[in-house]
Amino acid sequence: MRVNSIRDIMRASPVMPVIVIDRLDDAVPLARALVAGGIRVLEVTLRTAVALNAIKAIADAVPDAIVGVGTVTRPEQFAQVKSAGAVFAVTPGLTAELAAAAKAADMPLLPGVMTPSEVIAARAAGFDAMKLFPAEQAGGLGMLKALAGPFADVLFCPTGGVSLHSAPQFLALPNVGCVGGSWLVPKDKVASGDWQAISALAREAAALR
Ligand code: 3PG
Repeated sequence: MRVNSIRDIMRASPVMPVIVIDRLDDAVPLARALVAGGIRVLEVTLRTAVALNAIKAIADAVPDAIVGVGTVTRPEQFAQVKSAGAVFAVTPGLTAELAAAAKAADMPLLPGVMTPSEVIAARAAGFDAMKLFPAEQAGGLGMLKALAGPFADVLFCPTGGVSLHSAPQFLALPNVGCVGGSWLVPKDKVASGDWQAISALAREAAALR
């Protein structure tokens, strides 16, 4: 799917699963399990050796998935992930170099922010949708309510410490477009190939909105 903006992603799914893939063979069945449960937006993090190949495998084999890349921290990674098939990117923070590289690659970017000054800088760089990261440590619900005053035009995706239990409170805030979290992809369920359990977690998450 062509993604024109990060707001498309936020509309497409209430939850963005933060995915760490250790074994390449897990990538496609995991993506299929999440999509079967109704979660199409996937953030595959660049934290493992197989991450790029996992993105490529999912992009090739799971057409209903909207595959993005997470944990992008170096400008040169944008071109690499784009050729692997990622259609959006997420960074834990933002620098001028990362913003320029995302633009050069024509890749919609959800940049991470944690403070008002970072929101101002990200907005000046052209972003109106941001990841509040790490959300819980940044102040969670209270922080988002406080940011809504001066930054009413910014939509957030709080990520970090969000759970199935806390997600509805985040999603109820007017300045939250979606939440991110790893709870849909428990390491033990991936290791044992329990795709049905992961589909069930995805179904619960998809029903949050
Ligand atoms: C991460 O960086 O792994 C994400 O923020 C996910 O955080 P979580 O495991 O608390 O959902």
